[in-house]
Amino acid sequence: MPDAVLARASEHLFLRDASGASALERPFTGDAFREIVAHAQSCLRQLLNLPDNYRILFLAGGAMHQFSIVPLNLLGNSRVAAYADSGYWAKRAIGEAQRYAEVAVVARHAGDSPLAAPDLENWSFPVGSAYCHITPNETVEGIAYPDLPDCGDVPLIADCTSCFLAAPLDIARFGLVYASAQKNIGPAGLTVVIVREDLLERSAPLVPAPFSYRLQAEQQSCVNTPPTLAIHLAALVFDWLLESGGIAAMSVANRQKAGLLYAAIDGSGGFYHAPVAREHRSTTNARFHLANEALTELFISEAALHGLSNLRGHRHIGGIRASLYNAMPEAGVIALVDFMADFAQRHR
Ligand SMILES: Cc1ncc(COP(=O)(O)O)c(C=O)c1O
Repeated sequence: MPDAVLARASEHLFLRDASGASALERPFTGDAFREIVAHAQSCLRQLLNLPDNYRILFLAGGAMHQFSIVPLNLLGNSRVAAYADSGYWAKRAIGEAQRYAEVAVVARHAGDSPLAAPDLENWSFPVGSAYCHITPNETVEGIAYPDLPDCGDVPLIADCTSCFLAAPLDIARFGLVYASAQKNIGPAGLTVVIVREDLLERSAPLVPAPFSYRLQAEQQSCVNTPPTLAIHLAALVFDWLLESGGIAAMSVANRQKAGLLYAAIDGSGGFYHAPVAREHRSTTNARFHLANEALTELFISEAALHGLSNLRGHRHIGGIRASLYNAMPEAGVIALVDFMADFAQRHR
C-alpha cells in the first residue's frame, strides 16, 4: 500500500469515533460504517467513471472464491460457460468452473517461445454460453492481453485481480469484473465485484446468501459481516488515487516503471531475458530469467541485501518476477535496474 495511505491508516486504526468505535471494531450495522461503504463506492465510481447500470459489491474472501461464485450466480438456466485459457490463473478459474458448468475453452495462450496472450480473433461461443471469462493480466506468467475480445452478446467476465486500478478499464465492455484487494486495492480479505445490473437477476435462489450477487447488491454488501477494516482501508486507497490524478496518472506511472525495467532486460546483451512477447508483456508483473539460471538464487539473495525483496518467480516457473503495483514508486524500479546492471557486470 502507498506510504501516504499507511500513514493515514495508522491514525484511523485506533481512533474512536463519536460512537466510541475505532476502525478495528466498528459494527457493520452502524451509520459510521454505512458512510464508509457509501464513500468507498462513490470514490470507486468516480475513479472508474462507472456507468449507472453497474453495482459495486465489497465481498469477503479472495478472487479464488469468485472462481466458484461467478458460475453459481451467472449460469442462470444455462450449463455452458466459455473460458479463455491465458495461463496459470485462468486454468485455476477453469478448474473450479468445471465443477458447476460445461466449460468450453474458446481460446488458449500461444506456445512457449515467446509467451503470448490468446489470439483475439475468431472466438466462437457454443450456443447458450452464459458468459465468457478472461484473465486480462496473468500475474504468474506476466502476460497481459493487448486488447479485449469481441464477445458479441455473451457477457464478458474478467478476473482483474492484478490489473485493477492500474490502467483505465472500459467497464461498459464487461458484464462483471472482480479483483481481490491485496494488489492495488488494500489489505487481503476483500474482493471488489462490479456487476451489470441485469445480470443480478440470474442469481439462483439456491446460491448461498453471502455468495449471491443479487442479495449482496440489495443489501449494500452487508448480507453478513463484511471485511469492515479492509473496506475502510480500501476507501483510504481510493482517496489517495483520486488525490494522485486517478487511474490515468497511475497508468502513465506504471508504463514508465515497466518501460525502465524491460529496457534494462532487453539492453542487457542477453544476460537477462523476458520470455513474453513484447506487445503482451504485463506492465504490472514483469518477468525475466538470467541466461545462466544457476545465478538466479544468488541474484535473489544479493538483491535482498540491497532491500529488493519478493523477486522470486512463481514456484511453478522460477526465474524473477518484479511486481510493479501502484504503490511501488519509480525509485524502487530504479534501484532494481541499478542492481541488475551491477550484478550483470560482476557475473558476466
Ligand atoms: C489473476 C489472479 N487471480 C486470482 C488470484 C487468487 O487470488 P486470491 O488469493 O485472492 O484468491 C490471484 C492471486 O494472485 C491472481 O493474481
